[in-house]
Amino acid sequence: MPLFSGRCLSTAKLVGKTALVTGCNTGIGKETVMDFYKRGAKVIMACRSLERAEEAKTDIENRCKDLPDTGKIILAKCDLTSLKSVRDFAQNVLDTEPQINILVNNAGVMMCPKSETEDGFEMQLGTNHLAHFLLTMLLLPRIRSSTPARIVTVSSKAHIRYGINFDDLNYKSRNYNAAEAYSQSKLANVLFSRELAAKLKEHNIEGISTYSLHPGLIKTELGRHLNETLFWGARKVIGFVLAPFLKTPELGAQTTIYCAVDEKCANETGLYYSDCVVTSPSPKALNDEYAKKLWEKSVELVKLGDFNPFTAADPGVKTLLERAEEAKTDIENRCKDLPDTGKIILAKCDLTSLKSVRDFAQNVLDTEPQINILVNNAGVMMCPKSETEDGFEMQLGTNHLAHFLLTMLLLPRIRSSTPARIVTVSSKAHIRYGINFDDLNYKSRNYNAAEAYSQSKLANVLFSRELAAKLKEHNIEGISTYSLHPGLIKTELGRHLNETLFWGARKVIGFVLAPFLKTPELGAQTTIYCAVDEKCANETGLYYSDCVVTSPSPKALNDEYAKKLWEKSVELVKLGDFNPFTAADPGVKTL
Ligand SMILES: NC(=O)c1ccc[n+]([C@@H]2O[C@H](COP(=O)([O-])OP(=O)(O)OC[C@H]3O[C@@H](n4cnc5c(N)ncnc54)[C@H](OP(=O)(O)O)[C@@H]3O)[C@@H](O)[C@H]2O)c1
Repeated sequence: MPLFSGRCLSTAKLVGKTALVTGCNTGIGKETVMDFYKRGAKVIMACRSLERAEEAKTDIENRCKDLPDTGKIILAKCDLTSLKSVRDFAQNVLDTEPQINILVNNAGVMMCPKSETEDGFEMQLGTNHLAHFLLTMLLLPRIRSSTPARIVTVSSKAHIRYGINFDDLNYKSRNYNAAEAYSQSKLANVLFSRELAAKLKEHNIEGISTYSLHPGLIKTELGRHLNETLFWGARKVIGFVLAPFLKTPELGAQTTIYCAVDEKCANETGLYYSDCVVTSPSPKALNDEYAKKLWEKSVELVKLGDFNPFTAADPGVKTLLERAEEAKTDIENRCKDLPDTGKIILAKCDLTSLKSVRDFAQNVLDTEPQINILVNNAGVMMCPKSETEDGFEMQLGTNHLAHFLLTMLLLPRIRSSTPARIVTVSSKAHIRYGINFDDLNYKSRNYNAAEAYSQSKLANVLFSRELAAKLKEHNIEGISTYSLHPGLIKTELGRHLNETLFWGARKVIGFVLAPFLKTPELGAQTTIYCAVDEKCANETGLYYSDCVVTSPSPKALNDEYAKKLWEKSVELVKLGDFNPFTAADPGVKTL
């Protein structure tokens, strides 16, 4: 442990603030996240491995579980070796986060063997500088509307050792030197932070401060490549020699935290820090020409094009309705030359919230005199362990329970709109597992994403069958129910596979299955068949695939199972005394 190590002594709170930290599943990034979380911030952990990020999040939450007024941690995927990943991540943040008050460009790789990012940049320059440059530029319009804001870039004292080779930034024509490339990238960090401060000033933008820093020598995973680029055993030897001088990650994060939150430096900008005080970077890092040249080169390399982050308007977060609006416009445009098309109405309904389902259903009952077709289509597949607003396992809650409640609430209106059809989109995945009635929501068993998906899809088939049986019991005619497997389709359903299977799973599975995947248009055919075709108008309670009746799993045909699930669902969605089979249709509300 070093004799002196600066500490951030500020007790500033971050309640109501949003902070974003890159590369924070380990090392000083993780400590930084924990500090912000303790101060009450909403912290977005931008990591390349969501699995490792999830572990870090759980560890932080466990360690802070007895503290009052902690914030909230959100995980998001961002791989800095890919500009596409950075752009996707930034778009995701812009679509969903109304403010960003603190951005910490922390992630880094040190002295890795010669390699390139997806975009052909030398790995250290690409990861440590160019990706952070692009990220900061893309988020700047939102940061500009979130002032006071701070942008902290974690550099290193290693920046003083070499310069920047503008003629061959990416080692295309010179011999690779891992230490030199690290130094170049860390010098770029300081120059970027200084030039950003200058450019903000030029554009008369107030309220955003920039900071770069050396965090100290810290015992983290940063030295993971030393054995490859120095000599076998280098990591151990260097670790041993430096041991008395190494900071813990907690101490190593102090200067970052100081720059991000301390009142003392709130009015400073463009400076370089070490041990929580301003210090002088290398002369090259103070060279304005160098800084400008690097800026221009970076704009060109990350293909910023015409986008000017200092003047571009903040696009504002996208609401669910705005996304729906885009789909509606697309459909209308594609059908604009067709005769006798119908009408599309947008309404908000978030299936992860029973309140949202109830509000939506009430809205429909208040305004729509009839509902002839209900398609329970929405679904999530194999997401990481998470819960809906009401504490249900995410897949069961979204795919089954929310649709169960929606159907129940709308049934009085559907009963007065016959002939009507209720179509529930299930999946062949329902055959793989069963329903664990003792622990539907994975409160006491280990979570298995595939099993939870299968359980929710089995629930879809059982619900559809039992609904048909109950309609018959109540002598209700004119309503048919259908459940179906739509096929394997190229949609966004696999978005969580990389998190719950393995990194790259989405690509690998997509590649292997490519010859068998349907287009979304073909994937919708069985739903459409069940909803409109005369051929199946008199069928009910059956299961379909490729527009024909087919057999679901034996469990899906088990009536006891179906009845038990029905009762459990009634209880979980708190249907209470409401009987959808006998309740009177409330009728639409007049003006
Ligand atoms: N440790 C020191 O003595 C020291 C000294 C001076 C400066 N620094 C600087 O401090 C910062 C943090 O380093 P650390 O010491 O905490 O090291 P660390 O324990 O290795 O943490 C680095 C973090 O960066 C992430 N990362 C690396 N490549 C990434 C990519 N392509 N996309 C997204 N994230 C990526 C890593 O994620 P994975 O786990 O997924 O790889 C990890 O979370 C770095 O910028 C480093 O240069 C450290």
